[in-house]
Amino acid sequence: MTEYETILVERKDRVGLITLNRPKALNALNTQLMNEFVAAAKEFDRDPEIGCLLVTGSAKAFAAGADIKEMQALEFAEAYLSDWFTAWDELGRLRKPIVAAVAGYALGGGCELAMLCDILLAADTAKFGQPEIKLGVIPGIGGSQRLTRAIGKAKAMDLCLTGRMMDAEEAERAGLVSRVVPAGELHDQALAVAQTVAGMSAPAVLMLKESVNRAFETTLAEGVRFERRLFHATFATADQKEGMAAFVEKRPPSFTHR
Ligand code: CAA
Repeated sequence: MTEYETILVERKDRVGLITLNRPKALNALNTQLMNEFVAAAKEFDRDPEIGCLLVTGSAKAFAAGADIKEMQALEFAEAYLSDWFTAWDELGRLRKPIVAAVAGYALGGGCELAMLCDILLAADTAKFGQPEIKLGVIPGIGGSQRLTRAIGKAKAMDLCLTGRMMDAEEAERAGLVSRVVPAGELHDQALAVAQTVAGMSAPAVLMLKESVNRAFETTLAEGVRFERRLFHATFATADQKEGMAAFVEKRPPSFTHR
């Protein structure tokens, strides 16, 4: 696999693990990290031996935001002409599910990166926020949009306009994260979730991710029609035959991922 400087990349069976690795800057997301992260994630997305991605940071910080020191002197023309942050949009177009395991700070771009993932697990130490307002700017990797969809206008406005942090318990109550686990168990539990997903039928997993995401982009009637067509399509897969045969024969399925 390609060597990277700002992230660590490992394979754990069918799970592709990406660990943010700029500990001195609390994993602040600079341009190098963005480019390396997106390249590694796309490589896993293309790899037929990988069924699910897992993204994590350190115990102290998932990521404390975009790199403020890198952006400090940025001018409008450069930001606009280079379409600053645009590479992150590519993550939203990956087809395989991404699990985020968040401990410590997930602020600004860190919170936005977590929200670009599909399943969000938080350690009880996690702290989420969009503090850009305190820097005289606003979120730029989708925070005002994805946070609002995830937790509703009232809380999104509160968090974005005050820049306050929300702890893991509040984040779970608000619907931002699917589970909160003790910090010491985060890695193992997140890996278990990713391995579970990676063990399912790959075509069904991809269709499911696409179908859930369609709920954010279309009407209910269109979304249900879209789901129905994909459901019909699953009957063209070998994994549907295997999954249903295994149930009837009272044994675990052995998916061939096709
Ligand atoms: N960018 C660059 N460097 C950062 C950083 C960031 N977002 N966050 C932390 N660091 C650096 C600090 O500058 C410090 O470096 P030095 O040792 O060289 O001074 C190091 O990481 C450790 O940080 P602190 O000493 O501040 O650690 P702390 O424990 O006292 O505080 C913290 C932790 C509350 C998270 C604090 O670091 C902080 O507030 N960070 C900034 C959070 C933030 O504003 N994020 C939003 C960034 S803008 C953005 O993300 C835009 C967008 O939409 C994408």
